[in-house]
Order: sequence, then C-alpha cells, then structure tokens
Amino acid sequence: MDTNYVRIFDTTLRDGEQSPGATMTRAEKLLIAESLARLGVDVIEAGFPAASPGDLQAVAAIAESVGQSTETPSGEPPMICGLARAKTSDIDKAWEGVKAAKRPRIHTFLATSDIHLEYKLRMTREQVVTQVREMVGYASKLCPDVEFSPEDAGRSEPAFLYEVLAAAIAAGATTLNIPDTVGYTTPEEFGSLIKNIKENTKGMTDDIIISVHCHNDLGLATANSLSGVLNGARQIEVAVNGIGERAGNTALEEVVMAMHTRAPFYEKTTGIDTTQIMRASKLVSSCTGMQVQPNKAIVGANAFAHEAGIHQDGMLKNESTYEIMRPETVGVAESQLVLGKHSGRHAVKTRLGVLGYHLGDDDLKKAFDRFKDIADKKKNITDADLEALVTDELRHASQLWNLADLQVASGTTDMPTATVRLAGPDGEIHVQAAVGAGPVDAIYKAIDQIMGKHGKLLEFNVQSVTGGIDALGEVTVRVESLQSSDSFLNPQSGADAKRSYIGHGTATDIVVAGAQAYIAALNKLIIAEKREDAANDQAAASDAEKQA
Ligand code: KIV
Ligand code: ZN
Repeated sequence: MDTNYVRIFDTTLRDGEQSPGATMTRAEKLLIAESLARLGVDVIEAGFPAASPGDLQAVAAIAESVGQSTETPSGEPPMICGLARAKTSDIDKAWEGVKAAKRPRIHTFLATSDIHLEYKLRMTREQVVTQVREMVGYASKLCPDVEFSPEDAGRSEPAFLYEVLAAAIAAGATTLNIPDTVGYTTPEEFGSLIKNIKENTKGMTDDIIISVHCHNDLGLATANSLSGVLNGARQIEVAVNGIGERAGNTALEEVVMAMHTRAPFYEKTTGIDTTQIMRASKLVSSCTGMQVQPNKAIVGANAFAHEAGIHQDGMLKNESTYEIMRPETVGVAESQLVLGKHSGRHAVKTRLGVLGYHLGDDDLKKAFDRFKDIADKKKNITDADLEALVTDELRHASQLWNLADLQVASGTTDMPTATVRLAGPDGEIHVQAAVGAGPVDAIYKAIDQIMGKHGKLLEFNVQSVTGGIDALGEVTVRVESLQSSDSFLNPQSGADAKRSYIGHGTATDIVVAGAQAYIAALNKLIIAEKREDAANDQAAASDAEKQA
C-alpha cells in the first residue's frame, strides 16, 4: 500500500446535493458520476439510499454503470459508496444501492460529540460504542469495504473518539473518516486530532485509512483537510466547487491543485487527471444551479485573468511572474474548434467519444439533430458547445413534458405574446398562447397553462458557453414550488418549508433556452409532488392497516 497516495472521495452527489435547492435528477447525477470517473476520483459517494426511493434508484443506476466503467485515468472503476445511518434498515438500503458496483462501499455514521449525544441522539456513550460495534459489524458482513464516521468528531472528546474508532476497527471498518461536521476546528487543532487518532487508537495499522471530511463554515475546509494530510490522513472527502451543507465541503479542485502545485512540500500524489477539473466544475454548476463565484480559486472566471497593467506586463515577459499554475493544467484552455455545418454523424460521434460520451443510437440521433440545428445558426462548434448540447439532451431525455415549438412576438409593443407547443406525457402536442409583461413572462404563462402548474420564478441566469455573438446561451432558472413540503434530511423543516427546483436549457436563442429551463424545472416539480403524494398514500395505507 503506497502510504503517500491520497485517495479523493467525492461527495458532490451526497453532501453536495444537501446544498439548498441543489436537488438533481437521476440523469444529472449519472452525468456527474461519469464526469467524476473521468476525473479519476477514487470513491464516488453516490447518495443516501435510505433518504428516498429516488435516491436509492440513482445510487443503483450509478453502481450499475459508472461502477463498472474503465474510462478512468487508472483503468479501474471508481468505488461506489452509499451513506447510511448506523441502523440496519439504512445499511440494507445502502447495500441495495451499491452492490452492483465492481467496488462497493458502505459508509455508516453515528455522532460522538456530547452535544449530539445529549440533544439529538439521547444516547449514552456506552450505547454509542455498542451501536457502532454492532452496525459496523452488520455492514461488514454485507460489504467488503466499510467506512465509519463519528459525526461531529471535531467537537468530540478525543479519548471517547479513540474508543469509538477502536470499536469500528474491531468490527471491520477499513476507513475511518473524521468529520469536522460544523467546520469549527482550526488547521492546527484538526491536524493534531488526526495525529493523535493515529497514535492512540487501538488496532490502528497502515491498512486502516484515516480520512478527513471538513466543512467550510469558517472558510477553513481546505486548510484543515491539508493539515489532516500532513498529519497522516490518506483520504480527503471533497465536493466539486466546494458545494455542500451550509457553507459547503472542502473543494475538490483546491486540495488537489494544492498538492499538485506544491508537490515538493506535501510529497503526496492523487489519481486525479487535473485537466478534467474545469469540465467537472461547469457540469456541477449547471446541474445544481449553483454559480461559481468569479474569484473562486482554480475554477472561478477570474482565477487566471490578469487585470493590472504591471501584472499583464510581467505575464508577457514570463508567465511565472504572476501564475503559479498553467490554466491548461486544470483544463482552462481556449476551447478547441472542432466541427462545423458540414461535419457528419461519424465526426460528431467520434468527437463525443473523445470527450467521454458513448451514446446509443437513439441518443446519438437526438444529439446529431441538435448539432445540425445549431450548426445552421452557429458557424463554429467547439468542444464546449458540443458538451453543453449533449449534456442538455441527456438531462432532458426522460422528461414528461418537452418543448416542441415556440413563437414570440415582442419589442416595443405593449403586448408581448407567446405561442407554445409542448409534447406531453400522453404523446400529444398541446398548444397555448399567452400575453405577458415581457416575452419570458408570456412564455411562462403559456407553459403554466399547458402543464397545469405554477412555479414562482426565483432566479433567471444566462451564461454563454463560449464567446462570440452566435454563442450558445445557457439559461438556469430556480423555481419555487407553491406546495409545502417536508424533507427527510431536514425533518424539522415544517409544513411551510418550500422547495425549489433548478431547470436548465441550452440554445443559440436565449428565449428558447429560457423556455426549456422553465419546462425542466416544472418537470422536476411535478415528479417531486407525485413522489410525495405516493409516499403520503403509502403512509396513510399503513396507518389504516395498523388501526384495522
Ligand atoms: O459532515 C458530516 O459529518 C457528514 C457525515 C455524514 C460524514 O457529512
Ligand atoms: Zn458533511
């Protein structure tokens, strides 16, 4: 076992999805999982299977496909992991989710801080040790690879932590993950915690991997994770763009590029192909609707921009004056110009293959039709255009409602009018016209009438995929459901909690992209409401059964 190798465990699809409003569809999760495999992450935490049937299905779909994929830098499929509370029903669901993967992992957790024991779990320390021993043992009988996390380790009493971790090792855990759940510790404290765990936990050997899982509440997640590595951690839990619960998780791109750029200092390696970082960042941002701040390290729009005259002058003389890493190292290169209007299906298929998309005949036909349509309007199609187009197509492939046609009359007229044609789940075309305050308002009113739903528009963002007046436009909308909801992950959210849904559309015409985005968001809203109704019906039926 190479003790200088640091595993990258990605939790974009689990902790990342816990970011407010970042809920993703199964198709989006699959696209992200494929992108993480290309990036070379060692472990993909694909979800929390006990959270809902949808979560379980998404984890299973990832285990079946990406969990077998050899399109990774190492040629080995990534491990696919499912999260479970330390209880048999959760562990059973996690196993059901990951078992199809070539390398499955169950990640189970139980809190160890006195605060959590007293107020949340209402358990004694002895009960916690017993439950950890039993549940890690239970998981180890199902799955060859088990990770255990003492939740809120950063605020737990060290001696008790060593006892719990020793029980987890004795019961079969091979990875011990140390979460700073509320992002409370400093780099010095967190580094010492890892060192002390390594030195004081009974049963600790080089075969047991210590992992770090840091939250960014004080902006210290990256520093804490790296401090953990300097003190013996050999796995870092991360999310792309640093998304996650509250202020987020450690950003994948930051820890990876710190170890890469400062390799002589850290003397550690990872299996990450850094040139895939930017592609993964863009995909995660568009699937979650969480925009990357321009000054974000590594993946922000300004991360490699030089504005001041003195800096520009220095850069022209020698790049090393103001640049510690080359933009192409993280995949920020001038997007390659690859295809045009005369390119045929074979050229499109080949280029998509190079980008890592191996489509079946149906999907390829749809992607090629979209390509032809766009090539008629846009002279040069770059890799970034092609990727935006194909991910858009794949994400919307299984939608209930789809845009068939759109016509808008707007300008200085008082009555912007839209006529919308949607293909419905019944296979029929539904037509509606509406007048609005502007073209988008008119379109959205027509869509509301056809789909029989009304979402409150919270955000409408437009971004261009590449430069140029004929660039593809990507529109992301956030729509709030007007129906109240309760959440498994936030059981206290109460009857008035509102859920928001992200929708995304890509077209050369941003008004069309805006329509696609809104339809996508309403589709998600309808599916979520159907799931909720089904869960309520099931609960009512089981109540009735109990009373009978
Ligand atoms: O932050 C945390 O404690 C977690 C655990 C479930 C590992 O996400
Ligand atoms: Zn977390």
